[in-house]
Amino acid sequence: MRLFIAIEIPGDIKTAIGGLRVDIPGARWVPVEQIHLTLAFLGEVEEAAVERLTEELARIHLSGFELSFEGAGCFPNRHRPRILWIGVVPHPHLIDLASRVREAVLACNIPQEERPFSPHITLARLKLSPSQAFDAFLDQNKKLKLPRFRVREITLFQSRLTPHGAVHIPVRSFSLAIAGVNGTL
Ligand code: 2AM
Repeated sequence: MRLFIAIEIPGDIKTAIGGLRVDIPGARWVPVEQIHLTLAFLGEVEEAAVERLTEELARIHLSGFELSFEGAGCFPNRHRPRILWIGVVPHPHLIDLASRVREAVLACNIPQEERPFSPHITLARLKLSPSQAFDAFLDQNKKLKLPRFRVREITLFQSRLTPHGAVHIPVRSFSLAIAGVNGTL
């Protein structure tokens, strides 16, 4: 099965993100209910390896933390944009969490890309050259700020590819510790 590990975003913040949409030629917007923050993309994983993976993920003991999103940008650059994203306010706990998730995945012999974790919320995938509407979107949202929320768990998702696009199915969620109770950070 095709898997990835992500932080789910509260419904009200997903709705706020969905409300940012404008008509950008060549943009395929991520369905609002599918908006997430990817921690690790695993790709195809043998069914037999999933149990071990869930055991490794269940061993992650880090505390929950507050996260918020701000600004907008694109990958790989503004001249040849392919991914339109919302930025994540840097938080050391998020970087720790992503690196623990990466270790858990590697421990299951599932390869991971070398490039560093670059937290973002994908809003849309782009097929055409930058347009006026695209430039205007980035300018209008460069100072965007969304409300903070508490990250309490991470979720292993299956991504099933269908002719209508990917469908994301939660496989299992893993709670993070409550700070001050059994938190280690
Ligand atoms: P992103 O949108 O946050 O960049 C599920 O497919 C998620 O895994 C995608 O939303 C994407 O996260 C991330 N991902 C990372 N590398 C990928 C790849 N090579 N193919 C598909 N998805 C990938």
